[in-house]
Amino acid sequence: MTEKQLIELLNDLSFEEKIGELQQLSGRVYFGDDGIITGVDSDENLTEEEVNRSGSVINVVGPQKILEVQKNHIKNHPHHIPMIFMLDIIHGFGTSFPTPLAQSCSFEPELVKEIAHEAAVESCNAGLHVTFSPMVDICRDARWGRVMEGSGEDPYLSAKMAEAAVLGYQGDDLSKEGTIAACVKHFAAYGMVEAGREYGTVDTSERFLRQYYLPSYKAACDAGSALLMTAFTANGGVAATGDKHLLVDILRDEWGYDGAVITDYSSIHTMYSHGVTKTHKESAKLAMDAQVDIEMCSYCYHDGLPELVKEGKVTMEQIDRAVLRVLRLKNKLGLFENPYRFTDAKKSLEVINNKNAMDLAEKSVAKTSVLLQNEDKILPLKKEEKIAFIGPYVYENDMYGGWSIRNQRKVEPRNIETVVNEKFPNNNFIFEQGSEILGAEEPILKYDRARSSTLQYEADSNLRKEKIAKAVEAAKKSDTVVMCIGEHTKVGGELAARAHIDIPKIQKELFDAVAAVNDNIVVVLFDHRPLDITEISEKSKAVLNVWFPGIKAAEGIVGMLFGETAPTGRLTMSFPYTVGQCPIYYSQLPTDHSPVLEKVYVTGYIDCPLTPLYCFGEGLTYTEFEYGEIKLSKETLSEGEKIIASVEVENIGERDGVETVQLYIRDVFASVSRPLKELKGFKKVEIPKGEKVTVEFELTTEDMKFYNVDLEYVWEPGEIQVFIGPNSKTLNYKSVNLV
Ligand code: BGC
Repeated sequence: MTEKQLIELLNDLSFEEKIGELQQLSGRVYFGDDGIITGVDSDENLTEEEVNRSGSVINVVGPQKILEVQKNHIKNHPHHIPMIFMLDIIHGFGTSFPTPLAQSCSFEPELVKEIAHEAAVESCNAGLHVTFSPMVDICRDARWGRVMEGSGEDPYLSAKMAEAAVLGYQGDDLSKEGTIAACVKHFAAYGMVEAGREYGTVDTSERFLRQYYLPSYKAACDAGSALLMTAFTANGGVAATGDKHLLVDILRDEWGYDGAVITDYSSIHTMYSHGVTKTHKESAKLAMDAQVDIEMCSYCYHDGLPELVKEGKVTMEQIDRAVLRVLRLKNKLGLFENPYRFTDAKKSLEVINNKNAMDLAEKSVAKTSVLLQNEDKILPLKKEEKIAFIGPYVYENDMYGGWSIRNQRKVEPRNIETVVNEKFPNNNFIFEQGSEILGAEEPILKYDRARSSTLQYEADSNLRKEKIAKAVEAAKKSDTVVMCIGEHTKVGGELAARAHIDIPKIQKELFDAVAAVNDNIVVVLFDHRPLDITEISEKSKAVLNVWFPGIKAAEGIVGMLFGETAPTGRLTMSFPYTVGQCPIYYSQLPTDHSPVLEKVYVTGYIDCPLTPLYCFGEGLTYTEFEYGEIKLSKETLSEGEKIIASVEVENIGERDGVETVQLYIRDVFASVSRPLKELKGFKKVEIPKGEKVTVEFELTTEDMKFYNVDLEYVWEPGEIQVFIGPNSKTLNYKSVNLV
């Protein structure tokens, strides 16, 4: 439709139809308990007519169901307007890929884009139109459960990944097959919740908000994200879903964003829980004034808007603007011409777990896994040796992690034992489960009422002892032990904040017993978040952090362990020494006690180092690299000029390899305190063994800009240190003067 036709359609809609476009339903409206379509089953809040007028729905999954709902909807809607089907497709649809946090560790926006594209291909024929992804909340506190959904602690990297994901989902034309609309979330700074407490307090200055938290949302908006979702949280007491400054002054007016803004799940209503509105009507008023277009699964607009309009507190122009944004979204998706938009049960079955997607899933495991340590080059494993594979993740098929769609796959994931045996049928390897993932004493079983009924754990203490004893026997007989341990796959994502960020106690007991009899331990660590592994790392030779790698986890992990591939991921979130360091991140502000300055008092704690156990950007691979001195193409830089920073990197190890070269800057003196380091560039380069490559980065004064006290985005004259190295600890730098 042309814009003119859309406006004609808008003008033709009744008031009730307009309110309907702004209402998002929950899929349960359409289904009985057994999941079979029962026709429209008005929920307690809406009449059947109101359901028929709703603009979109979340959580209807499966092409047949979607076709049927859409068919009925178009038939029953007074103007036969199709509805939009939305779902959280976070790291793959039928093919589950590594979690988003893991993906960010690839330092490869191209990979993130390809993964998003495959997720779009698989979900498009299944009838879905919108995914609630990417989640771009910067997170610096590993206690928060949702860190696994984002790209970690750094704004620059996160912005690159945000852009890549949007382009991957949406392609260049949303009306084409194999695309879905992206919805960047959660605007804004949800990842800052104090101490990781879910939905908790957020409080940041506007300067820091703009400097560190907003850039990744902006990058997604600039890349064309068709939707943006508000956050549940209240920053400094201002509820995000009614935050006019954020949603209008910054998003709409400054950034020029004109996509559809959707609330988080009933987050208009949540303003009541924040204690800032007493009624649905008050909530509706705040959200409307903040130009929020779609209300997800609560009914404040439905209940409040009619009176608000009658009383003149909300204008028809406001409502029309929101409805038009919804109609434009439908139009972008091509729904007016193509209301069933490639929904095709047969084709859907064909594309689910297609070869491209599955190959990409396997390839992405090595790119996203981070080798944190590798003493004596214990990895890759030597297949002639006697190796024991011990731990609950040896036999676990579900290595999907939080926010996974587990019921749309055609292919079943395999476990590590199966894949090792298949690859090396004649080797004399030993496999022992050693323990369940959880023991009965695990705090989540006591405190998490919702989850504890579904989690399996070892309740039998005799069995527990027997399993550990068998694992110890296996370890005694082996040259090397590979311990596959980690968090439960269901303790990441929303409502999964943890106060203890260690591996479950039962697995720690197993680990300690095995480590007492064998020094050659390789840990394969499964996690949603950086864990406290200080003791584990002390007792292990290698730690290979694989996060949750998805449907091809076992194949990818075994390939890395035996050196067919090499891990090349780098941390995008620091691993703390202990939970007491959280939040922890590399881009700290300098003080008298900063480690990089030549000062003596390098402390921050008296019982723990100031720096994390493993820092941002850190990660090894199966070869080593040496960095030369940095060369800058000039000594001074003024507005509009660019400077080339280059460095020679040599592969001094014994095999070809891939290095992630990272560039950081530090603005030494400025009108506000600037971080010790900030990432401003990265390149992943293949370097054959024995060879050297020159890696170049281009910088301009744009890269040196920051928000000053007046919230102006400026650069200031003075010294900028340019660091290039393998991680955020690098001290390899040269200075340039901004003039
Ligand atoms: C989450 C969102 C999600 C939405 C829909 C909310 O509870 O915060 O991230 O997209 O539910 O499932």
